[in-house]
Amino acid sequence: MNKCVRFINPQEYALLEDFLYAAIYVAPGQTPLPRSIVYAPSVYNYIKEFGRKGDICVVCEIADVIVGAAWTRILDRDGEKGYGNIGPGIPELAIAVCPPYRGQGIGTELLQSLHGSLQAEGYTKISLSVQKGNPAFRLYERNGYRIWKERAEDFIMVWEPAVHLYS
Ligand SMILES: CC(C)(COP(=O)(O)OP(=O)(O)OC[C@H]1O[C@@H](n2cnc3c(N)ncnc32)[C@H](O)[C@@H]1OP(=O)(O)O)[C@@H](O)C(=O)NCCC(=O)NCCS
Repeated sequence: MNKCVRFINPQEYALLEDFLYAAIYVAPGQTPLPRSIVYAPSVYNYIKEFGRKGDICVVCEIADVIVGAAWTRILDRDGEKGYGNIGPGIPELAIAVCPPYRGQGIGTELLQSLHGSLQAEGYTKISLSVQKGNPAFRLYERNGYRIWKERAEDFIMVWEPAVHLYS
């Protein structure tokens, strides 16, 4: 299988809409939200005009098809705060893998690649919001994320390279 994890190309940014939609957690028994939810400002903020300073995205490509994406963006501006925002200048993570490719280690590869890129850029923290009940919580824990805050519906988790490498 011809698989690679690499940075996204600018001409592929439009694909992020699909991955953003795929990243929205649907609890068992819950009706999926309409696709148009990606255009809700609080959601679209994660990809709007992607490619601005601080945006980093890696994708997994298999046989010329992009099957997964993980990206970080700094969402700390007033009116544009991310669900997992923990402070100024801290990148927030979003990730999704196409359903047929889940559970095969692609999410882990994407996360590890992204972590390396962020460390190389000098970032010292990554945050995210994960809904309670989302199995992705285990993926994050295995990859060094710790609960930073518990809220009614979700956890904010944080990855810090120093803690991850030396704890
Ligand atoms: C989360 C996700 C990116 C992981 O990618 P993956 O390639 O399946 O990940 P890996 O194979 O490396 O690791 C498997 C882990 O992914 C998570 N996972 C697997 N299927 C999942 C699903 N349908 N939904 C959410 N997480 C899932 C679990 O933590 C699993 O670990 P476990 O086997 O201990 O339960 C992928 O499952 C996905 O796109 N899920 C839907 C979108 C989502 O929940 N994004 C995160 C929002 S916070």
